[in-house]
Amino acid sequence: MGASALFSLEAQGSQLVISAATGEVPRILHWGASLGSTDLNELEVLGFRQVVHGGPGRSVEPSLAHEAGQGTGFPPGLTLHRGGDDWAFLLKTVSVEQRDGALIVSTEDERRTLRHRATFSIAEKTGVLSVAVELENLGAEELMLDQCATLTMPLDGQMNSALSFGGRWSGEFQTEEIDLYRGSFVRENRAGRTSHENFPAFIAKTSSTDETSGACAAFHLAWSGNSRMRIDRQPDGRTYAQLGELLFPGEMVLKPGERYEAPSVVAVWSGEGLGALSHAMQRHLRSEILDPRASEKVRPVHYNTWEAVYFDHSPEQLLALAESAAEVGAERFVLDDGWFGSRRNDQAGLGDWWISEEVYTDGLTAIADRVRDLGMEFGIWFEPEMVNPDSDLYRLHPDWVLTARDVEDVPFRNQLTLDLSKREVSDYLFTAIEKIVRELSVSYIKWDMNRDTHHPGHDGGRASMHRQTRALYALIDRLREAHPDLEIESCSSGGARTDYAILKRTDRLWTSDNNDALERQQIQRGASHFFPLRVLGSHVGPKVCHITGRTLQMELRVATAIFGHMGMEVDLRTEERQDLEVLKAGIALYKEHRGLLHAGRQHRLETDPWYIAQAVVSEDKGEALVSSVKMERDPFTHPQRLRVAGLDPDRRYRTRIVWPQSSLSLTSPSVVEAGDLLGEGSVFQGAALMNFGIQLPANFPQTAVIYHLSAVSDGEA
Ligand code: GLA
Repeated sequence: MGASALFSLEAQGSQLVISAATGEVPRILHWGASLGSTDLNELEVLGFRQVVHGGPGRSVEPSLAHEAGQGTGFPPGLTLHRGGDDWAFLLKTVSVEQRDGALIVSTEDERRTLRHRATFSIAEKTGVLSVAVELENLGAEELMLDQCATLTMPLDGQMNSALSFGGRWSGEFQTEEIDLYRGSFVRENRAGRTSHENFPAFIAKTSSTDETSGACAAFHLAWSGNSRMRIDRQPDGRTYAQLGELLFPGEMVLKPGERYEAPSVVAVWSGEGLGALSHAMQRHLRSEILDPRASEKVRPVHYNTWEAVYFDHSPEQLLALAESAAEVGAERFVLDDGWFGSRRNDQAGLGDWWISEEVYTDGLTAIADRVRDLGMEFGIWFEPEMVNPDSDLYRLHPDWVLTARDVEDVPFRNQLTLDLSKREVSDYLFTAIEKIVRELSVSYIKWDMNRDTHHPGHDGGRASMHRQTRALYALIDRLREAHPDLEIESCSSGGARTDYAILKRTDRLWTSDNNDALERQQIQRGASHFFPLRVLGSHVGPKVCHITGRTLQMELRVATAIFGHMGMEVDLRTEERQDLEVLKAGIALYKEHRGLLHAGRQHRLETDPWYIAQAVVSEDKGEALVSSVKMERDPFTHPQRLRVAGLDPDRRYRTRIVWPQSSLSLTSPSVVEAGDLLGEGSVFQGAALMNFGIQLPANFPQTAVIYHLSAVSDGEA
């Protein structure tokens, strides 16, 4: 094969090599560490796989699309047919284009009835690989597409372990380590939303990879609908990672000339551990995906009404909450569920997007204006894709929902999913939402979505989750076009719609309904593999958590909310005065450091398992904020020293404790007094803080400490 058949993309120490000779089946030869000045033709010889006894008579190298019909026993990535026929086909390269740093490989089958186009690009600044795929029916008959994975990536055999992310409502981003065995690791999401259970991403790694060393690769399917991801270890020793949309039977039928656009995959490889992966993913999200509204604007402190009042709305208490929220430092006031139609509980009114005259007899304009007078933005909650059967909307349009003929819907929060692919449904929602936004000068929407959709039948028939997901994107895009400054939060029973496709058109994620600060530490740590602190909504909840029943001190609740996009939904009217003072001080601290928290590089620190610690270090390494939370009682009398990561070893840092502001250690003198850490602090060498560490004060479990590190000039040192 001539050199012209080998194509390569390279950035930030990683390289992708694709073999795509015209008329041949293309394949990925390499994705991993850069190969330097290697003549890429060497890879063909270096990777030559011999024929062995008891196997195929020639070595079959799995293709780019991994189409059924290759003649391997591997789980395929692309399966389709025409009325049961034409299921076996091979896609051969017809053209390769290199345009604006991207590599576009187009392939067709022998009879030219099908075109597959895969676009690869590697971002210059982060090394993040993006993959997009489009499939076109060139034939004269309908084509039934069963699945079209966006990416099937060969993994280096040393990747014998994986991290997988998922969980449950109010328990998102639980991180699970999987030892890869012979066979398949598969996660399928059929929830009709990104889902709590199966976050569409995983990290492949070696068994010894840790935060700062070792080979690893992160993969994410940027999609808010159904998904399938898998890692397959073949008996022949090869391992493949595969990600794509999960299609229901008959969901995708392409008429002649029609195309299927698969969700994109973003992926990144690193030889330097998990921290480098997160850093690249987080940076990529900020520089390539988020709208500058979110990536550049200072993230205001939220007050959200949900846990304070639930459905018990009244103008008086709303105004009282707004006043006390402004008093402690809120900058945005978000009116949650319960303000519209007959929505006095979760059984009625969803879909009736007009202000309830029963509750707000004088409307909401005066309240929204008062919120602004108090110095806060006004935000409001919608759940556009859903309808309660007990609503005017449903009574008028019972045919507007997704259902499956002959199968009864399984109840889910008393609501049904509207079929957004019907133009009249999307038009109704656009008009209703837009009217409220305009009339109340709303600057922020909390866009919720609170049920799984297991029967997504369009008019009771063909499954429609793909079209539904695209229609959702179109609706949000239309609203943003009409109101370019409007910011949107993606919420779905907490964090069931957190992905890079929704973040292309929204500005914040509601990470979880769980405001228990301890569980939030874990949830936010899991989420940090893919999402930066600036998009992760994190609220101070009530002293006794509504989800877990656990009682937690204000200091810990504040310390947890600071490391995110801070907000609160505690009922400020019932908190003790002393706690309100602590909250106010915590909000002031967040405001002082949010520039660093939202622009710096986040490092998950490695500690004993009864601690969770992290550091956020500014890009120039001049400043850092370090948090350490003691989750449980220490089995030893003294905690270990905390080693900070990401500092400049050659600089010296003035180190002070900035949170909490008192009652830190069980006994004294401790390191707090020895280093005057609550006072002037002490100056320590970066190398010492990183390689020797700082002794943590012995304290009760369920407590946090936050250090501020500031590099000192030579004179001061
Ligand atoms: C979901 C959200 C909550 C709240 C309620 C309102 O559960 O995650 O934050 O908005 O809906 O019904």
